[in-house]
Amino acid sequence: MTAGAPAYDGGVRHFLRDDDLTPAEQVEVLDLAASLKAAPFSRRPLEGPRSVAMIFDKPTLRTQVSFGAGIAELGGNPMLVEGRLAGIGIRESVEDVARVLGRQVATVVWRTFAQADLETMAAHAGVPVVNALTDDFHPCQLIADLLTVREHKGTLAGLAVAFIGDAACNMGNSWLLAGATAGMHVRVSAPEGYLPSAAMFDRAAEIGATTGGSATAVADPQKAVAGADVVVTDTWISMGKESEEAARVAAFAPWSLTEDLMSHAAPDAIALHCLPAYRGKEIAEAVLEGPQSAVWDEAENRRHAQKAVLAFLLERSTPPPTGTAGTGGAA
Ligand code: NVA
Repeated sequence: MTAGAPAYDGGVRHFLRDDDLTPAEQVEVLDLAASLKAAPFSRRPLEGPRSVAMIFDKPTLRTQVSFGAGIAELGGNPMLVEGRLAGIGIRESVEDVARVLGRQVATVVWRTFAQADLETMAAHAGVPVVNALTDDFHPCQLIADLLTVREHKGTLAGLAVAFIGDAACNMGNSWLLAGATAGMHVRVSAPEGYLPSAAMFDRAAEIGATTGGSATAVADPQKAVAGADVVVTDTWISMGKESEEAARVAAFAPWSLTEDLMSHAAPDAIALHCLPAYRGKEIAEAVLEGPQSAVWDEAENRRHAQKAVLAFLLERSTPPPTGTAGTGGAA
């Protein structure tokens, strides 16, 4: 692959991982999401319409639909780029694709495997690039999750969150970083070998030192959930891990979010799950459909959250110099 010089990245903001937003910016995005939820057509940064490329190299339902609807509500044109046809990194390099896309669209939204590829896209596109899930992070989901918690609890800072199950995945990492950014106390409970890396805990601690938040590993799921305000779980078999299904189902069984486990949380705790959910595995039907579930609000909030992310990035990005890149990118 031939890497050209970055087309233009000096004034362009991206959302590649949760800590790309400072604590103050996270509040700003959450406030904007809440106002867009109340008044869906009140911000039109994509008026024209300008296009947003949405590329999916992994399965999707909520992300494609919520970005598609949200981009339209922002005045734009959601352009689905078929990942298998584009063959990014296979048919042509990420760098070449980035430079082509940046001259056609205002923003690139990409769900893919390697975080490094997303970073390469961001370095060369000349327009904002948004992480629509990688193996390492799912930051748009976290804005939706935090919005949901704030709606139900009225605040974020100081709340205790228990993340139960496979924490060595995008959702575990994103909860550590986004939760710490919000000043929350994130407790992670997973079987041995399924915790976020030490580097991720260190980064969360670094952020927490500025916000009052914290991130800790708690081996016993009941202790992790004890008194928690929010209990979160995710599939035990993330996209790309299908061949490990049998081993994972066996290892994770004690971390299933059952009614009994949920009963150890605060009486007014809420349960979150980014979906798709596998009932009877990582979450019991009774919890998913029960009175403490905020899962369906959480799914709706993807649209409001992502609209706020897009508006924030577009409005904060400086247009690239004429003739370099990002014909579609200037706000
Ligand atoms: N950890 C899950 C999240 C799905 C939205 C996965 O990567 O498949």
